[in-house]
Amino acid sequence: MANMKRGILAVFIVHIVFGLDLSKTMALEQTPTVIIVGAGMSGISAAKTLSDAGIKDILILEATDRIGGRMHKTNFSGLSVEMGANWVEGVGGSEVNPIWTMAKKLQLKTFYSNYDNLSSNTYKQSGGLYEKSVAQASYDIADQQTELNNNISLSLSAHRDEDISVLTAQRLGNNVPSTPMDMAIDYYGHDYEFAEPPRITSLQNTEPLPTFSNFGEDVYFVADPRGYESIVHDIANQFLSTNNASEYTDPRLKLNKVVREIRYSGSGVIVKTEDGSIYRAGYVMVSASIGVLQTNLINFQPDLPSWKILAMYQFDMAIYTKIFLKFPYKFWPSGNGTEFFLYCHELRGYYTIWQQLEKEYPGAHVLLVTVTDDESRRIEQQSDSETKAEVMEVLRNMFGNHIPEATDILVPRWWSNRFFKGTFSNWPIGVSRYEYDQIRAPVGRVYFTGEHTSENYNGYVHGAYLAGIDSANMMISCIKKKMCKYQVMPKGT
Ligand SMILES: Cc1cc2nc3c(=O)[nH]c(=O)nc-3n(C[C@H](O)[C@H](O)[C@H](O)COP(=O)(O)OP(=O)(O)OC[C@H]3O[C@@H](n4cnc5c(N)ncnc54)[C@H](O)[C@@H]3O)c2cc1C
Ligand SMILES: *[C@@H]1O[C@H](CO)[C@@H](O)[C@H](O)[C@H]1NC(C)=O
Ligand SMILES: *[C@@H]1O[C@H](CO)[C@@H](O)[C@H](O)[C@H]1NC(C)=O
Ligand SMILES: *[C@@H]1O[C@H](CO)[C@@H](O)[C@H](O)[C@H]1NC(C)=O
Ligand SMILES: *[C@@H]1O[C@H](CO)[C@@H](O)[C@H](O)[C@H]1NC(C)=O
Ligand SMILES: *[C@@H]1O[C@H](CO)[C@@H](O)[C@H](O)[C@H]1NC(C)=O
Repeated sequence: MANMKRGILAVFIVHIVFGLDLSKTMALEQTPTVIIVGAGMSGISAAKTLSDAGIKDILILEATDRIGGRMHKTNFSGLSVEMGANWVEGVGGSEVNPIWTMAKKLQLKTFYSNYDNLSSNTYKQSGGLYEKSVAQASYDIADQQTELNNNISLSLSAHRDEDISVLTAQRLGNNVPSTPMDMAIDYYGHDYEFAEPPRITSLQNTEPLPTFSNFGEDVYFVADPRGYESIVHDIANQFLSTNNASEYTDPRLKLNKVVREIRYSGSGVIVKTEDGSIYRAGYVMVSASIGVLQTNLINFQPDLPSWKILAMYQFDMAIYTKIFLKFPYKFWPSGNGTEFFLYCHELRGYYTIWQQLEKEYPGAHVLLVTVTDDESRRIEQQSDSETKAEVMEVLRNMFGNHIPEATDILVPRWWSNRFFKGTFSNWPIGVSRYEYDQIRAPVGRVYFTGEHTSENYNGYVHGAYLAGIDSANMMISCIKKKMCKYQVMPKGT
């Protein structure tokens, strides 16, 4: 311990001397103007925005060996599947989702997700389908409650009332789900989108949801060998140089660089990485997830102000786990109106949401089941074979004992990963626009971006993209016009 401290001290002295040297010789061109921490969608979007504005002396430090962050394809049994973001969400509305435009440009293979026929595809805990009319009655009540939620939320805003949870609104409608089927439908309506239950989620900030009210209600599933992440690569390729094998050769992108310390003052920033490298810059843009910011992976010196820390710690990093399974042959219904099905269980959220991917991966016999929150934490900590055994039991309950064993399983572990600590942010009750703006606000020369800083679209790919642009523009105003003040909206507006 004592040794380590001395080590840090020694490094510190070295760079102070080094720093003095630099200012004496005015070797400013060796110091980038901006360091960007993280090369996910928002970091790359911010870097591109800076570059377009003529701020080209940037340095991107990324902890992993790749760019793309939470957009991450993998090879599952010979198929390219998405461990992270999978859908372009918000299509077909009055405004065009910029991610949809990019997906079209790259001609990514996308598939419209049709959930209309779920009432004919809702399975009982011990097997067999619910009668369509019985299930439909329950879906209708859930839809009615959603409409009421919308009305209550608008009325809260109109009267400047305090926010409430989605569960509180359900109580107001006398519609608190309590049977396996009602809980499964409720899970589909809320947890499947926000990865946290109605008890936690803010009504006012999720209903109506800007993603759907601005960009449209449709969602498209990306199943392309190049991966959803090819959208990030397409942005990066517009300002970072690559070799003829499409590998990044630009010295301004450094992979496998884990930022552990950010020292900031009125005159600049010093960024240290785990491998002992030290970088100086005028400004830093931090794009690590809110889950990462809630840990001590990055040590800020001096400590971030308490208003900032409190705001960051109040927000939620949710967990959404996409488990892919491969089978020797198909034993589930296929054809129109069968892609999605629900499994109802007394334990809310127990392997509830299923998708058969015959359309996306023809002949591959792949199923996708989604779990969230506490179930995700539990499943990340057990072995894949234990998870497979649980999943097989659920499938045997639904389809009978004759079905074949899965030949392969993929269980992404985003929560256990110190560079993510979850999958996407969710807006909890207790956080108003005031605290949210504080999460986005820069602290001196330290700027923040990432999906969790998006003005209207936290949790989404388009949120990350647009937040990168917004945060970069704030920084550009400061660097170029000396307009460095950030207005946090006053409380209660
Ligand atoms: C399982 C899952 C499903 C999702 N589904 C969808 C969906 O269907 N549709 C949708 O629109 N969105 C979805 N999302 C959300 C979407 O993926 C994210 O909102 C978006 O990709 C976040 O981008 P970002 O740049 O803000 O963060 P990230 O992608 O997390 O980028 C931050 C980068 O910072 C790096 N980093 C972290 N710490 C450090 C450090 N100390 N030093 C250096 N680098 C560091 C990380 O490695 C990472 O590359 C999903 C996400 C997940 C994980
Ligand atoms: C996946 O890996 C297998 C075996 O390593 C390889 O044959 C196949 O081409 C890969 N598929 C994709 C889509 O990358
Ligand atoms: C919601 O408000 C609209 C318009 O005021 C009204 O027509 C509708 O009946 C309300 N819905 C519910 C479920 O309260
Ligand atoms: C890529 O570049 C290398 C050397 O820079 C060259 O040897 C190789 O032939 C090139 N490949 C293609 C496909 O152009
Ligand atoms: C499925 O529906 C689409 C459009 O709704 C239709 O074009 C197609 O023919 C249908 N396929 C089958 C197998 O019924
Ligand atoms: C709805 O699902 C049922 C059961 O899987 C299926 O038989 C039916 O064809 C589907 N209906 C439509 C309209 O897609």
